[in-house]
Amino acid sequence: MIVAANFKTNMTRKRTAAYLKELERRLAESGMEQQVMVFPPSTALDSFEGKVLVGAQNAYAAQNGAFTGEIGLDQLDEFGIDTILIGHSERRHVLGESQEEIAKKYAFYKEQGFNIVYCIGEPLEIREEGNDALMDYLDAQLVGIDLSYEKLVIAYEPVWAIGTGLTPSNVDIELLHTALRHKIERPLLYGGSVKVNNALEIMALANVDGVLVGGASLDVNGFFSMVEDAQKCDS
Ligand code: PGA
Repeated sequence: MIVAANFKTNMTRKRTAAYLKELERRLAESGMEQQVMVFPPSTALDSFEGKVLVGAQNAYAAQNGAFTGEIGLDQLDEFGIDTILIGHSERRHVLGESQEEIAKKYAFYKEQGFNIVYCIGEPLEIREEGNDALMDYLDAQLVGIDLSYEKLVIAYEPVWAIGTGLTPSNVDIELLHTALRHKIERPLLYGGSVKVNNALEIMALANVDGVLVGGASLDVNGFFSMVEDAQKCDS
């Protein structure tokens, strides 16, 4: 199982360091072998020691250059960061990243050998149109993405479930993940309102290989309890 925390625009450099220290302490103490990832804001990136894979929420598809407000490979290399989140719905829908830009970013960081957590997910109006529309929408978000990349992890996150407290039913999550499994052999995470009280049942579903957690990851106690849930699902 993979348990990933997306801090978004939350937590400071200082709070992130304290969080990771506590998370590492608990992971070491428990001897758990789950794969744990944390995506803090870029100002909190640093050379962290330990089991947790710390990654960037976003970076530009360039080593460096004139891209005001962005960070590139140089800024990630400084801290040995080789994990990145690409295609998150907030980048697509709030920041207006096109599939073309996203695919370019994917190709660039793939070329650099990064671990990539690649996000896809549909808005509510698409889901309401039915299954064919839903699968077509997700397929369009996979255009230009090499699905055979061995360091790819997919996160399925319905846009309407992110930060809303709503989730698809367990049956719907399982059906969707099973449909994705037919085209993607890499690990499939579910994201969107994963909380302490639903993480275990979601991770127990067929073809769910872990979770990507936003709001509920900000509390280290809650996040660690989801790592414990992952352990239960694996054992
Ligand atoms: P949420 O966010 O857990 O707060 O719904 C998930 C995500 O956007 O990755």
